[in-house]
Amino acid sequence: MKIGIDKIGFFAPHMYIDMVNLAEARGDDPLKYTKGIGQDEMAVNPVTQDTVTMAANAALQLIDETDREKIDFVIFGTETGIDHSKAGAVYVNSLLGLKKNVRAIETKQACYGATAAIQLGRGHIALNPDSKVLVLASDIARYGLATPGEVTQGAGAVAILLSKDPKIMTIEQESTYQTDDIMDFWRPVYSDVAIVDGKYSNDKYIEFFADVWSAYKEKTNRDFSDFEAICFHLPYTRMGEKALKPHLESMSEDVASRLESNYKISTTYNRLVGNIYTGSLYLSLLSLLENQTDLKAGARIGLYSYGSGSVGEFFTGILEEGFREHLNTANHKELLANRKEVTVAEYETEFLKELPTDGSSIEYDEESDPATIYLSGIKDHMRQYKNKKS
Ligand code: COA
Repeated sequence: MKIGIDKIGFFAPHMYIDMVNLAEARGDDPLKYTKGIGQDEMAVNPVTQDTVTMAANAALQLIDETDREKIDFVIFGTETGIDHSKAGAVYVNSLLGLKKNVRAIETKQACYGATAAIQLGRGHIALNPDSKVLVLASDIARYGLATPGEVTQGAGAVAILLSKDPKIMTIEQESTYQTDDIMDFWRPVYSDVAIVDGKYSNDKYIEFFADVWSAYKEKTNRDFSDFEAICFHLPYTRMGEKALKPHLESMSEDVASRLESNYKISTTYNRLVGNIYTGSLYLSLLSLLENQTDLKAGARIGLYSYGSGSVGEFFTGILEEGFREHLNTANHKELLANRKEVTVAEYETEFLKELPTDGSSIEYDEESDPATIYLSGIKDHMRQYKNKKS
């Protein structure tokens, strides 16, 4: 049975900053940000968007009445969830008006959480072929103002509907993965910003790619020539390039140039949104599918997932006949084009806004956020969510 991506969509908050302005404000050469790191713009999330609302906004555009009937598993991959106990999937289930006989859980392992969700979802469909599984990947990447990691922040969500006989991409059976207990990036429960050893994390990411790729090659006898493109987890858009580079000389010129050129296209949206942790790999896949106009059905796409700490996985998909007709390309381009640019000072103000943590109430004005689903306030330690259309 074919199982894979039937629908895929994303959401990014309505504000962004230009990385040239951020570089100038931090006294850095703008080329370091745009070329050295590879980021042009970075999403700025208002206090009215958290990981629940972003995931719900991403899924809202995908789900129709048939899906509502068939979805019986919602899996929320995140490393910036809103609660230590309750899963973000439960809130999204209610915000989307999904039925109650659904399993709703959260998965966590840094930026790998959504890949774990996809593999879990595939297993669920293999056992229950008529089910559909909604996978959500939603995060707000925060390192702190004027830190080395600041340039690799971002916010956004990707929603993926998994089913049998998928319309976009079948996920193939073979995958290779590995785990190693290392401290390259983590976020202690008392901290709202991540701690990262950036250079060490880069090295581990590259090393994990080499390991899972070599295991995949051995397991399947496939080589780089069997791939039309490889999408990478992108904490910033130079990262995948660094992992691919050591392998280029083992390829023919044609294969190397195809993978390099498709890699560049696969960074299109990530360059404008920044790091969305769990969703970054899938935003890269979306960038490729919606911007590479020569992709053909039957093409094999590689996906490299890396979650610091660390778990890495290499898996693959085959594009389905007519996949392009099932993408929401125009909506996604419009969402990005309609965002509002903010100044560095405005970004800093948004960054420093905090929700009350002492049980006091707050209400937010719905006019301040154009998104359909938003956080309308806090009451008695409970987040209040609103869907403007219901
Ligand atoms: N023009 C062009 N390129 C420039 C430049 C300039 N004026 N100045 C610097 N650069 C290049 C550097 O040569 C370097 O390129 P290289 O990586 O190919 O060598 C790149 O810009 C970054 O510069 P660097 O000095 O290494 O930056 P940094 O010390 O500020 O750290 C990160 C960069 C990415 C390590 C840091 O932002 C970070 O830790 N981010 C978090 C990463 C993360 O999330 N990891 C965990 C998940 S996988």
